[in-house]
Order: sequence, then structure tokens, then C-alpha cells
Amino acid sequence: MKGRVIVDATTPVGTLSKRCYGQFIEHLGKCIYGGIWVGRDSEIPNVKGYRLDVLKAVKDLNPPLVRWPGGNFASGYHWEDGVGPVSRRPRRFDMAWRAEEPNLFGTDEFIEWCRLIGAEPFIVVNAGNGTPEEAARWVEYCNSNMNTYYSSLRREYGHEEPYRVKLWGIGNELHGKWQIGFCMDGAECARRTVEYANEMLKVDPEIELVAVGCEDPEWNLEMLKGAGRCFNYLSVHFYASGSMPYGELVALPEEIEQRLKSVYGLIKATRMKYGIEHEIKIAFDEWNVWYPEAKEPLVTQITRVRDAVFTGGVLNMLQRLCNIVPISNFAQTVNVLPLAIAATDGRMVLTPQYFVFKMYSNNKGASVLRTLVDSEHYMSTDVGGYVPYLDASATISKDWETLYLYFLNRSEEDSVELQVDFKGFTPKSGVQQFIAGESAEDRNTLEEPDRVRIEQARVEAADGKINIVLKPHSVNVVRLHC
Ligand code: AHR
Repeated sequence: MKGRVIVDATTPVGTLSKRCYGQFIEHLGKCIYGGIWVGRDSEIPNVKGYRLDVLKAVKDLNPPLVRWPGGNFASGYHWEDGVGPVSRRPRRFDMAWRAEEPNLFGTDEFIEWCRLIGAEPFIVVNAGNGTPEEAARWVEYCNSNMNTYYSSLRREYGHEEPYRVKLWGIGNELHGKWQIGFCMDGAECARRTVEYANEMLKVDPEIELVAVGCEDPEWNLEMLKGAGRCFNYLSVHFYASGSMPYGELVALPEEIEQRLKSVYGLIKATRMKYGIEHEIKIAFDEWNVWYPEAKEPLVTQITRVRDAVFTGGVLNMLQRLCNIVPISNFAQTVNVLPLAIAATDGRMVLTPQYFVFKMYSNNKGASVLRTLVDSEHYMSTDVGGYVPYLDASATISKDWETLYLYFLNRSEEDSVELQVDFKGFTPKSGVQQFIAGESAEDRNTLEEPDRVRIEQARVEAADGKINIVLKPHSVNVVRLHC
């Protein structure tokens, strides 16, 4: 198959958000206990209790942002259980996942882990069975430098300087009946959001707030009407079903792109109608593929090359939507719907999805560029139309000297011989990295951890163009210098 892309470096689309390739960790299955945290006395190598292999693997992704403590878990979590001397922390029944929560990993451990991996913390408060007062006290514990009770408590526990947590979520999926303390409708959630926001902002007016949204326009309208004045981002979650056929799964990011655009359209229209002057954007703060075998209590699965192609599609889509979806969090980083599988015997395996994150996060520019794609198409029933085999996006560095291209070849059988032309940039040479495996079903396991890996090829430019080959079912990142 042949394909052509034109990259326009003369009229950038916008700035690539620093919070774009975020991660999400939840007290669920073996994500925190066994994945992030093993404790100082564990036989598994660790730094101050944090599992070392996971720490290194996550750090290699340069994650800009990590969302915690849930998810559903957040709606029953009382943060005060998780601070202070470990011997005094209660072991609680976690109602969300019907599990035992030992509270060994709490706010201070989360902040420390974020610092070790160089990520910004994003905390979701309990708006399920918690109270606005409890949430405001959490903001005080993290961000205040007064001599009041909760900031003094943080100092007493060894943390003199405020943590300055900027991004806070008010609740998780409160539209769903599965959620502890769910709301009957958007109007109820809006009232609750206003109460939380009022108290949290009184403690720290500088924080940014993410409110619960979804794909239901009625819910979102009520939220925006009733609470839009006090939040900055509306949250949307999306899980693709792992049982979809290959062609449908890898086409899905096209559909998600349309849906996120329509959520943003509603945000804009509602702001205009109700005179909400400040900008409200979307936090796509949970997304992944979810296979039927990923069930409680562990919610684990081993994803494949096909899921990597989906993941590349979502990241390309997020780059294109940089002006409306500046926040995203992959669900989840380790052991739960995982990017990395960290076994109890000390072995670890990285999934093809992990390698997509690695290629993208280590090759990103400051601005997003327009791409024009000429490709053959195929019919997708789920998307309800023709989808191009070739998907593209591009970013460029601040000094305009390094250009990054991101391509998917969605075809399961055919390679794409691709020609790329440029406006406003003259490439000299570069490197192509890709993930393709031998088949779309290939995966890495504890027994065969290197079956799918990042491969590499040199790229030479001629007459201001490049010609490269995209393998079937591949995700490709090309770094070019001028
Ligand atoms: O990521 C697993 C769960 O999926 C989260 O706890 C919840 O928010 C979502 O439904």
C-alpha cells in the first residue's frame, strides 16, 4: 500500500500539554501493594519500600502527571487513615473493591513516589462518602504553610515544605450506580461539586479542579450550568472493549476524537449561554482497553500489539486535540489493566503499550503541527464509516530544529510505503522507532518478555522529503533534524 503525508510547520495547531501522557494508579488489585510499593522489608529490591524495577520503568516514561488514589477507591477513601506512624494506621474494609486496605501507602508515600519519578501529583478527593470539610483538610495538609492543625501535622510527620499539589479531582464517576455515594443526576453532582470546590478553594485559591463529567450530554449540561463557575476541567473516561475485532479496536480512537470534540462543543456552548468566562477543558483521566478476563480482585490482563496500535491512536488523537484535552491519564500503570506487570516473585514484564508510551514520551516537541494524510481506507462498523489505514500526527521542538512524527499503520496485513513532505521544515536525517511484533496478537509474558520490543531504522531525507516503510499493525515515531 502507498501513503502520503504532508506536515505543515508554518501554522502550528497549539502547544503540546505537559500533562498529556499522564498515568493513573489506584488502590486496586496489586497496583499499589506489590506494584508501586512492596515495603522496606521485602525481598524484592526496593528504595524505601518503593519497588525498584517498577520505579525505574515508570521513570523511563517521563510521566508528567500521576492520578491517585482512584478510581472507584477514591469514593470510599479517608485520607487521614493513610498518614502518620504506620503502626497507628487502621486496616480498613475498602467498600469499592471489597478488599482490605492496610493504609501503608498514603499521601506522603504518593508524593514521595511522584518526586522519585519526576511527575506532578493529581489527587482525587472522596466526594462519595466523604465530606467537603475532609477534602479541604486534605488540601490544607498538602498545601498550607500556616501554623494550623493539618499543615502542622504534615510538618510533624517530617515534611516541612508544603507539597503544592495543584491539580485536584472532585470525585470519580459519580454518575455511575457502581460508585460509592453516586449522584442521581448531574444537578445533584453539580451541587456537591460546588460545596467541595468552595471549601477546597478557601484553603488554597491557586488549585485547579477537575469535576466529574461523562459522555451523557444531559449530565454534562447540568454540571456546567450548576458548577461550571468553580471548576477548570470536566473529566471523561473511556475503556475500549478488548473483545472487539482488530480492525474495530484500532479504528476506535477516530470515534473517541469525535466524541471528545462534541463534549467540548457542549462546554463551549454552555459557557457562552451562561456567561462562564473562564476556560473549561477536558481531563481524559482514565482510558485503556479492558479485556473480559480482567476481573476483580486483580483486574489484570496481558495486552498485545493490537492494543499498542490502539494506544498510539489515542496518543495521536490527544496531540491533535491539544487545545481542548490537555490532561490524560492511562488506566493503569502497573498490574491493573497494566502497562507493566510486576510479579510477586520479583520478575517484571513490559507490555507493547508500555513501549508506545516510551517512544512518545521520549520524543515529543513543544508545539503540535498540522498533518494532511492521503491513505487507503477500510470500513469500520463501530465508527460508522471509512477509516484511514494510516494515522499521523506531528510535533516540533521549541527551537524548530527537531521534528517528531507519529504514524500508525492500521492494516493487519500490508506494509505502507510512505512519502512525507514538509512545509516550513527541511529534514536532513533522523531515526525511525517502531513497534510491530510479528503479529497483532503478539505479547510479552514473564516467560517471553522480549517478544515485542522497540525496533529502530535510520532515515535519510532527499529533496526535503523522507520515504519510510511502516510495517503492518505498527506504531512508528520518527525523529528528524534539520
Ligand atoms: O480503572 C479501573 C476502574 O475503572 C476505576 O476505578 C474506575 O474509575 C473505572 O470505572
